[in-house]
Amino acid sequence: MTSFTGRVAVVTGGTRGIGRAVAARFEAAGATVVTLARTEPRQAVGRFIATDLGSHGAVRDAFRTVAEEFGRVDVLVNNAGGARPGAALDYSEAAARAAFDLNVLGALFAAQCMYPLTPEHGGASIVNIGSVAGTRPSPGTALYGAAKAALASLTKSLALEWAPRVRVNCVLPGPVLTESLTAYYGGPEAAAVVGQGLPMGRMAEPADIADACLFLASDAARQVSGAELLVHGGGEAPRFNRAGHLPRRAAGIDGTGE
Ligand SMILES: NC(=O)c1ccc[n+]([C@@H]2O[C@H](COP(=O)([O-])OP(=O)(O)OC[C@H]3O[C@@H](n4cnc5c(N)ncnc54)[C@H](OP(=O)(O)O)[C@@H]3O)[C@@H](O)[C@H]2O)c1
Repeated sequence: MTSFTGRVAVVTGGTRGIGRAVAARFEAAGATVVTLARTEPRQAVGRFIATDLGSHGAVRDAFRTVAEEFGRVDVLVNNAGGARPGAALDYSEAAARAAFDLNVLGALFAAQCMYPLTPEHGGASIVNIGSVAGTRPSPGTALYGAAKAALASLTKSLALEWAPRVRVNCVLPGPVLTESLTAYYGGPEAAAVVGQGLPMGRMAEPADIADACLFLASDAARQVSGAELLVHGGGEAPRFNRAGHLPRRAAGIDGTGE
């Protein structure tokens, strides 16, 4: 895999969960890493700049600091995101706007600020962290799913407009074993049961998502732009096939079964 030595990677929400693993992965690959989040962690990966991604002004200020201190940005991972689950009927105006401000507009504003700091001859890359929730709606995630679908669409528009200077791709994780998700499922044991229901037999670790980001930002993906990379352990069996039975013919598909 490409060495990122001499390259600058900005990771939004790089202080916890998936973002922290992404920041650590790029740092291990040689990048100079900058992490943006609201709260400074006890031990930050790379240079931490306190930033509310939901505020255009704050994003602009953060990239001004990045420009002054590092002079360039080669990789932007738009990872900060999320939205409280809830019934669509109950969402307040503030909650609805906040979901789009963070998941969609925060990513757009960060990308806009990054663009002028990228090398004119190309090689820079943006990886947006979407979600399978943007492609497969489930109850209680209407706002989140809509925002992640918008982010996936934004990914493709930027990929068209900014090629060949900046490649823009999206990673779509399924459930990932972060502290937030473990709490959401009601603890580690309940989360493990959910993981066992996936074809890969476990939930993704943050490092699995970090590796997908590293690939998309690397020269190995030099012709990949506007793509959505599912990292969901094979997906979920549809409800009508909860028992996970294979169709009878599938076992004999190579002529050796049955
Ligand atoms: N975990 C999953 O199963 C899963 C699945 C699919 C997709 N995703 C997506 O993956 C991304 C990361 O998820 P995660 O589970 O790792 O989240 P997490 O553990 O809750 O961490 C979120 C990170 O984003 C930062 N953040 C939140 N709101 C922010 C804001 N307004 N401004 C700046 N930073 C902000 C947080 O720091 P501060 O709170 O200090 O700001 C933290 O660093 C999200 O986009 C999420 O939608 C997660």
